[in-house]
Amino acid sequence: MELYIDTANLDEIREAHDLGVLDGVTTNPSLIAKEGIDYGKRLGEICEIVSGPVSAEVLALEYAEMVKEGKMRAGIADNIVVKLPVTVDGLKACKALSDEGIRTNMTLCFQSMQAMMVAKAGAYLISPFIGRLDDISQDGTELISQIRTIYDNYGYDTKILAASIRHPKHMLECALIGADVATVPLKVIKQLMQHPLTDSGLKTFLADYNKAFA
Ligand code: G3P
Repeated sequence: MELYIDTANLDEIREAHDLGVLDGVTTNPSLIAKEGIDYGKRLGEICEIVSGPVSAEVLALEYAEMVKEGKMRAGIADNIVVKLPVTVDGLKACKALSDEGIRTNMTLCFQSMQAMMVAKAGAYLISPFIGRLDDISQDGTELISQIRTIYDNYGYDTKILAASIRHPKHMLECALIGADVATVPLKVIKQLMQHPLTDSGLKTFLADYNKAFA
């Protein structure tokens, strides 16, 4: 399973990159707003740290503007993936950019037919948002499962990028279903390595050793 970090913060990206298991980065307008920095400038900085896919979301809502903005973002670096919403205009822009060899990440996916349509348009990634569905008492991981089945039924190459991941159990469920990628905040990436029995076992090992040899 590929692991992306979901942030536009350079310190967090460096820290995750230094773990040696980071495959890419996803950003969105809210994450950039938190940083208070020009979107294009920050994307260039991120691409200097990470060589894997870096998702850059367009702000335009209309097809022609989306394509124009997508091409502009794609020009920043070879590893930029243009992020578009799963709207009708986004679908058309996905097809146009994909036909020109520009990779796309189709975002804000909340139902499986959106995922099927963008796969037909040649999307590189589909981003179903698990946590936000759970927030409204729906089943986020069930959406991942449906998309996995549909993509396998028809042999679509689009990668399932599980997004809006809030805790390690989301990751576990996505890995069991077979999501291709997960984009995860740094806090949750660190939680993936945590268990209280690991900590207490380590403490006991060292205490026993020191008692015998100190
Ligand atoms: O990058 C999009 C997605 O991961 C957002 O997550 O926690 O804001 O729902 P969240």
